[in-house]
Amino acid sequence: MAKAIYPGSFDPVTKGHLDIIIRSSKIMEHLTVAVLENPRKVATFDIKKRVEMLKLVTEPYPNVDVDYYEGLLIDYAQQRKVDIIIKGLRAISDFEFEFQMALVNQKLRPEIETLFMMTNSKYSYLSSSIVKEIAALKGDIRSLVPTEVYEIILDRFS
Ligand code: PNS
Repeated sequence: MAKAIYPGSFDPVTKGHLDIIIRSSKIMEHLTVAVLENPRKVATFDIKKRVEMLKLVTEPYPNVDVDYYEGLLIDYAQQRKVDIIIKGLRAISDFEFEFQMALVNQKLRPEIETLFMMTNSKYSYLSSSIVKEIAALKGDIRSLVPTEVYEIILDRFS
Protein backbone atom coordinates (compact mmCIF):
# COMPACT_ATOMS: atom_id res chain seq x y z
CA MET A 1 0.00 0.00 0.00
CA ALA A 2 1.17 3.51 -0.81
CA LYS A 3 1.51 6.79 1.04
CA ALA A 4 -0.61 9.66 -0.21
CA ILE A 5 -1.43 13.26 0.38
CA TYR A 6 -4.86 14.80 -0.01
CA PRO A 7 -4.24 18.52 -0.58
CA GLY A 8 -6.75 21.32 -0.52
CA SER A 9 -7.60 24.67 0.94
CA PHE A 10 -10.25 23.13 3.28
CA ASP A 11 -11.73 26.55 4.01
CA PRO A 12 -13.56 24.95 5.83
CA VAL A 13 -13.58 21.12 5.70
CA THR A 14 -16.96 19.77 4.52
CA LYS A 15 -18.67 16.38 4.69
CA GLY A 16 -17.58 15.92 1.07
CA HIS A 17 -13.90 16.31 2.03
CA LEU A 18 -14.34 13.95 4.98
CA ASP A 19 -15.89 11.32 2.71
CA ILE A 20 -12.81 11.45 0.43
CA ILE A 21 -10.49 11.29 3.48
CA ILE A 22 -12.22 8.20 4.88
CA ARG A 23 -12.35 6.36 1.55
CA SER A 24 -8.71 7.18 0.68
CA SER A 25 -7.45 6.19 4.12
CA LYS A 26 -8.90 2.70 3.52
CA ILE A 27 -6.83 2.12 0.40
CA MET A 28 -3.62 3.91 1.46
CA GLU A 29 -1.07 2.85 4.04
CA HIS A 30 -0.87 6.46 5.22
CA LEU A 31 -2.74 9.62 4.26
CA THR A 32 -1.61 13.18 4.98
CA VAL A 33 -4.33 15.78 4.64
CA ALA A 34 -2.39 18.89 3.65
CA VAL A 35 -3.70 22.43 3.87
CA LEU A 36 -2.21 24.56 1.11
CA GLU A 37 -3.01 28.03 -0.06
CA ASN A 38 -5.02 28.32 -3.24
CA PRO A 39 -3.66 31.47 -4.91
CA ARG A 40 -7.00 31.86 -6.69
CA LYS A 41 -9.00 32.18 -3.45
CA VAL A 42 -9.00 34.53 -0.48
CA ALA A 43 -9.23 32.37 2.65
CA THR A 44 -11.89 32.90 5.31
CA PHE A 45 -10.24 30.77 8.02
CA ASP A 46 -6.53 31.10 8.76
CA ILE A 47 -4.30 28.07 8.23
CA LYS A 48 -4.12 27.31 11.97
CA LYS A 49 -7.92 27.12 12.23
CA ARG A 50 -8.22 24.97 9.09
CA VAL A 51 -5.63 22.54 10.47
CA GLU A 52 -7.40 22.49 13.85
CA MET A 53 -10.73 21.62 12.20
CA LEU A 54 -9.15 18.87 10.12
CA LYS A 55 -7.44 17.40 13.18
CA LEU A 56 -10.80 17.23 14.97
CA VAL A 57 -12.53 15.39 12.13
CA THR A 58 -9.66 12.98 11.33
CA GLU A 59 -9.00 11.98 14.94
CA PRO A 60 -10.73 8.57 14.61
CA TYR A 61 -8.50 7.52 11.68
CA PRO A 62 -5.09 6.30 12.91
CA ASN A 63 -3.36 6.31 9.52
CA VAL A 64 -4.35 9.93 8.77
CA ASP A 65 -2.40 13.01 9.79
CA VAL A 66 -2.85 16.71 9.08
CA ASP A 67 -0.20 19.19 8.01
CA TYR A 68 0.16 22.49 6.16
CA TYR A 69 2.61 23.82 3.63
CA GLU A 70 3.29 27.22 2.14
CA GLY A 71 4.61 26.49 -1.32
CA LEU A 72 4.15 24.23 -4.29
CA LEU A 73 2.14 21.07 -3.77
CA ILE A 74 4.58 18.99 -5.77
CA ASP A 75 7.56 20.14 -3.68
CA TYR A 76 5.67 19.23 -0.54
CA ALA A 77 4.81 15.80 -1.97
CA GLN A 78 8.47 15.19 -2.72
CA GLN A 79 9.56 16.45 0.70
CA ARG A 80 7.11 14.05 2.42
CA LYS A 81 8.25 11.20 0.13
CA VAL A 82 4.72 10.32 -0.95
CA ASP A 83 3.93 8.43 -4.14
CA ILE A 84 0.41 9.68 -4.70
CA ILE A 85 -1.61 12.89 -4.65
CA ILE A 86 -5.35 12.30 -4.14
CA LYS A 87 -7.80 14.78 -5.64
CA GLY A 88 -11.57 14.68 -5.27
CA LEU A 89 -13.70 15.24 -8.36
CA ARG A 90 -17.29 16.41 -8.01
CA ALA A 91 -18.44 17.30 -11.48
CA ILE A 92 -17.26 17.76 -15.03
CA SER A 93 -16.74 21.43 -14.15
CA ASP A 94 -13.92 20.41 -11.74
CA PHE A 95 -12.23 18.31 -14.36
CA GLU A 96 -10.60 20.79 -16.71
CA PHE A 97 -8.64 22.67 -14.05
CA GLU A 98 -7.77 19.56 -12.03
CA PHE A 99 -6.54 17.90 -15.22
CA GLN A 100 -4.31 20.90 -15.95
CA MET A 101 -2.87 20.88 -12.40
CA ALA A 102 -2.24 17.12 -12.57
CA LEU A 103 -0.40 17.50 -15.88
CA VAL A 104 1.74 20.39 -14.60
CA ASN A 105 2.61 18.41 -11.48
CA GLN A 106 3.41 15.37 -13.65
CA LYS A 107 5.74 17.54 -15.74
CA LEU A 108 7.50 18.86 -12.62
CA ARG A 109 7.85 15.46 -10.92
CA PRO A 110 6.82 12.51 -13.11
CA GLU A 111 7.43 9.97 -10.32
CA ILE A 112 4.48 11.30 -8.29
CA GLU A 113 1.04 10.21 -9.52
CA THR A 114 -2.22 12.14 -9.15
CA LEU A 115 -5.23 9.90 -8.52
CA PHE A 116 -8.78 11.22 -8.82
CA MET A 117 -11.48 9.91 -6.53
CA MET A 118 -15.09 10.52 -7.51
CA THR A 119 -17.17 12.24 -4.91
CA ASN A 120 -19.94 10.37 -3.17
CA SER A 121 -23.08 11.37 -5.12
CA LYS A 122 -24.57 12.56 -1.79
CA TYR A 123 -22.03 15.39 -1.78
CA SER A 124 -21.62 16.25 -5.45
CA TYR A 125 -23.23 19.68 -4.92
CA LEU A 126 -21.17 20.53 -1.85
CA SER A 127 -18.24 22.95 -1.61
CA SER A 128 -16.61 25.11 1.06
CA SER A 129 -17.87 28.21 -0.78
CA ILE A 130 -21.48 26.99 -0.62
CA VAL A 131 -21.10 26.25 3.11
CA LYS A 132 -19.76 29.77 3.72
CA GLU A 133 -22.49 31.41 1.68
CA ILE A 134 -25.23 29.56 3.56
CA ALA A 135 -23.58 30.26 6.95
CA ALA A 136 -23.12 33.94 6.13
CA LEU A 137 -26.82 34.22 5.29
CA LYS A 138 -27.76 32.41 8.53
CA GLY A 139 -28.86 29.19 6.85
CA ASP A 140 -28.55 25.75 8.45
CA ILE A 141 -25.21 24.10 7.60
CA ARG A 142 -25.56 21.15 9.99
CA SER A 143 -26.04 18.58 7.21
CA LEU A 144 -23.10 19.96 5.21
CA VAL A 145 -20.18 19.94 7.65
CA PRO A 146 -18.83 17.38 10.15
CA THR A 147 -20.43 17.76 13.59
CA GLU A 148 -17.04 18.41 15.25
CA VAL A 149 -16.53 21.67 13.32
CA TYR A 150 -20.10 22.98 13.15
CA GLU A 151 -19.76 25.41 16.09
CA ILE A 152 -16.35 26.68 14.94
CA ILE A 153 -17.76 27.58 11.52
CA LEU A 154 -20.87 29.12 13.02
CA ASP A 155 -18.75 31.28 15.35
CA ARG A 156 -16.83 32.72 12.41
CA PHE A 157 -20.08 33.96 10.86
CA SER A 158 -21.82 35.15 14.03
O1 PNS B 1 -9.39 22.90 -2.20
P1 PNS B 1 -8.79 23.62 -3.38
O2 PNS B 1 -8.88 25.12 -3.20
O3 PNS B 1 -9.37 23.18 -4.69
O4 PNS B 1 -7.22 23.21 -3.39
C1 PNS B 1 -6.34 23.70 -4.39
C2 PNS B 1 -4.88 23.51 -3.96
C3 PNS B 1 -4.63 24.20 -2.62
C4 PNS B 1 -4.60 22.02 -3.83
C5 PNS B 1 -4.00 24.15 -5.09
O5 PNS B 1 -4.30 25.51 -5.23
C6 PNS B 1 -2.51 23.97 -4.81
O6 PNS B 1 -1.94 22.94 -5.13
N1 PNS B 1 -1.89 25.00 -4.19
C7 PNS B 1 -0.47 24.99 -3.87
C8 PNS B 1 0.33 25.80 -4.90
C9 PNS B 1 0.64 24.96 -6.14
O7 PNS B 1 1.23 23.89 -6.08
N2 PNS B 1 0.19 25.47 -7.30
C10 PNS B 1 0.44 24.84 -8.59
C11 PNS B 1 -0.63 23.87 -8.96
S1 PNS B 1 -0.29 23.24 -10.56
